Amino acid sequence: MTIRAVVRGVGHYLPERVVPNAWFEDRIDTTDDWIKSRSGIERRHFAADGETTSDLAANAANAALDIAGLKADEIDALIVATSTADLTFPSAATMVQHRIGMTGGFAFDVQAVCAGFVFALSQANALIVSGQAKRALVIGAETFSRIIDFEDRATSVLFGDGAGALVLEAADGDGSTADRGILATDLNSDGSFRDILYVDGGVSTQTTGYLRMQGKEVFRHAVEKLAATAHTALGKVGLTGDDVDWIVPHQANLRIIKSTASKMGVGMDRVVVTVQDHGNTSAASIPLALTLGVANGQIKEGDLIVTEAIGGGLAWGAVVLRW
Ligand code: UT7
Repeated sequence: MTIRAVVRGVGHYLPERVVPNAWFEDRIDTTDDWIKSRSGIERRHFAADGETTSDLAANAANAALDIAGLKADEIDALIVATSTADLTFPSAATMVQHRIGMTGGFAFDVQAVCAGFVFALSQANALIVSGQAKRALVIGAETFSRIIDFEDRATSVLFGDGAGALVLEAADGDGSTADRGILATDLNSDGSFRDILYVDGGVSTQTTGYLRMQGKEVFRHAVEKLAATAHTALGKVGLTGDDVDWIVPHQANLRIIKSTASKMGVGMDRVVVTVQDHGNTSAASIPLALTLGVANGQIKEGDLIVTEAIGGGLAWGAVVLRW
């Protein structure tokens, strides 16, 4: 018998305010056509003044708990993947823990930028298979609008705010790839790439800073590393792209998503794409895409899913799971 971390529910939250590409045309030297053709993005959501990452995360958590038919007190581990927590400390996770009424267990943040949800999912899986938790709530939540330099056309048009959450529960499996739940994970990082994607401020410099990115360089690494990590994760359990029902990629750029799918030999009819509506929501993009993939009838119980993501660090990875 093998313990598996099985998905019991997913939920999401998007701030009310929708910002179309045209909003940027009035402010910087850009066009709707450039943004759409280079990134696939058409609109994104921005949090309201005073609305914080933990607000978004708590709403997504409650939505996932509702779908799972669980109360917050039935969760024993809560992880928030974010790079835009409300405060330097405490963690966004403990703030969400309190907000949703989870009085026991433990909560902590994971910071792997756009790869954060994949890293958090892998940590939750480790907690469950090692018997340290029975039910984990894994949340990706970001307010990247707070670290956008709105004068920088190369980055400001790409990002959005949002949150998604997923409830994992321990279940018995037979150890085969027919089991529901997380089947394999692959995590990587290489700190030598710090300068191609970073925020030029932080606690230790007593500034907040803005996101800085060498887009072309990040693009090049994404195209190469995402397919490789997905292949590695699948290979750990003897699977290939042919076995995949849905790729649920980090939603940064439609061209990266297409190129990764093609390298994996998976048609775009088996890829969940939400980048047009959300932009790049960093750690929130995969759980947002999972929630919408389920809601619109794409992802069904028993489907083999691969999620993959890359972000600042660089940090990148993939998770293979059967829904
Ligand atoms: O989630 C974390 C991971 N992040 C990513 O995966 C993002 C990876 N990178 C990308 O998605 C793409 O590199 C971008 C969408 C950021 C840019 O696309 P690109 O095809 O690499 O364009 P580029 O940066 O090479 O810029 C092409 C041209 C430049 O003009 P010149 O030098 O050719 O005259 C830019 O100045 O487009 C110009 N440009 C713009 N033009 C209109 C850059 N930003 C804009 C803009 N509007 N917003």
